[in-house]
Amino acid sequence: MVDIAILGHGVVGSGVVEVLSGNRQSIEKKAGDSIRIKYILDRREFPQSPYADRFVKDFDVIRDDDSVSVVVEVLGGVEPAFTFVRECLSRGKSVVTSNKELVAEKGAELLALAARNHCNFFFEASVGGGIPIIKPLHLCLGANEIHEIGGILNGTTNFILTKMFREGMAFDQALALAQQLGYAERDPSADVDGHDACRKVCILASLAFGRHVYPRQVFTQGIRDITPADVAYASQWGGVIKLIGRCRRLPDGKVLAMVSPAFIRRDSQLAGVDDVFNGILVRGSATGDVVFYGKGAGKLPTASAVVSDVIDAIQASDTVATLQWQDAGPEEVLAPFGSYPVTAYLRLEGEDALVKARVLFGEIRQLVSENSGETALITPEMTEEELAAKVRALEENDIRVLGLIRVLDY
Ligand code: HSE
Repeated sequence: MVDIAILGHGVVGSGVVEVLSGNRQSIEKKAGDSIRIKYILDRREFPQSPYADRFVKDFDVIRDDDSVSVVVEVLGGVEPAFTFVRECLSRGKSVVTSNKELVAEKGAELLALAARNHCNFFFEASVGGGIPIIKPLHLCLGANEIHEIGGILNGTTNFILTKMFREGMAFDQALALAQQLGYAERDPSADVDGHDACRKVCILASLAFGRHVYPRQVFTQGIRDITPADVAYASQWGGVIKLIGRCRRLPDGKVLAMVSPAFIRRDSQLAGVDDVFNGILVRGSATGDVVFYGKGAGKLPTASAVVSDVIDAIQASDTVATLQWQDAGPEEVLAPFGSYPVTAYLRLEGEDALVKARVLFGEIRQLVSENSGETALITPEMTEEELAAKVRALEENDIRVLGLIRVLDY
């Protein structure tokens, strides 16, 4: 019998209880042992729950109970989750989490702590909800050098962009609908400003390239400024706009990582990832492109990933050696943002905008104007630093830049 504890009984925590109870037989068969939920930590009371007698309010009860060998952390946020997880790992209890903020901020430290204590820190649910991606990256694709990962990692923004494309909604209208349907948070800035996708790309980059990439180091742009005109130009160009989190290993070993809206071609495998779904494209040296697709959020999909980690934690006899990355200074890990290669769509307003853009950019692809008085174009490839300088030069020449969206090749 394995005793487990669950920290948090919110959407994901209650989903974990539901999946564990509902599929008990097959889960225990796979784990090779019976599983007892011994404690659930929550400040609230749940008198109607069949587990009402397992609720505790004091974390120390769980920490000090040596019979508890696996702890599920689904509180969200860095604190108190970090303190709780650190104390569990220090005592040799394996921890399973869905908490992307915790992994993105503290992953290197917690993985090292787990290794020192011969237990595990697992986080399959932190990226892509129910989509398997963490284990495929470090186990199933273990024979590959990972060159690049690009993904639609946030369901809320993907829902909003899908509504803007399919139904011609404006951003505010689509966001209101996402909130009404319960996809977006009441304060949706973590979603729409790209921070949620940034945390997920940090986890993927750290795992794929072996050194911790921190959210504060990663250029992150959300989707608030996307307009119906941008949507029309993307369509005319032959694609869609998606919020893409991506990371790539550069030839000198440094890493490119960023989050931004992007034009991607209609025939890209990511272009058909719509609504609240997530899609993650991994470019491996042996496999070429592999795409993972499914529900990136929600109670049961996320609980599915958590419970599969619980099974692995029970089965593991020691720390899983492939699930590791090192901490390192930012200058050793990330290439400077200004050096990243970029091709961009620009929407410009002002006299002789096209002529001025041609002088600055050289060969451009002009798009047919959707609105009078404006010019839209696709630039040739350059560096981010060059792009920023040319945009400044346009503005100094009385041209307003109404839109700038990167163009990606996925
Ligand atoms: N807010 C997140 C999303 C939840 O919309 O994808 C899952 O991480």
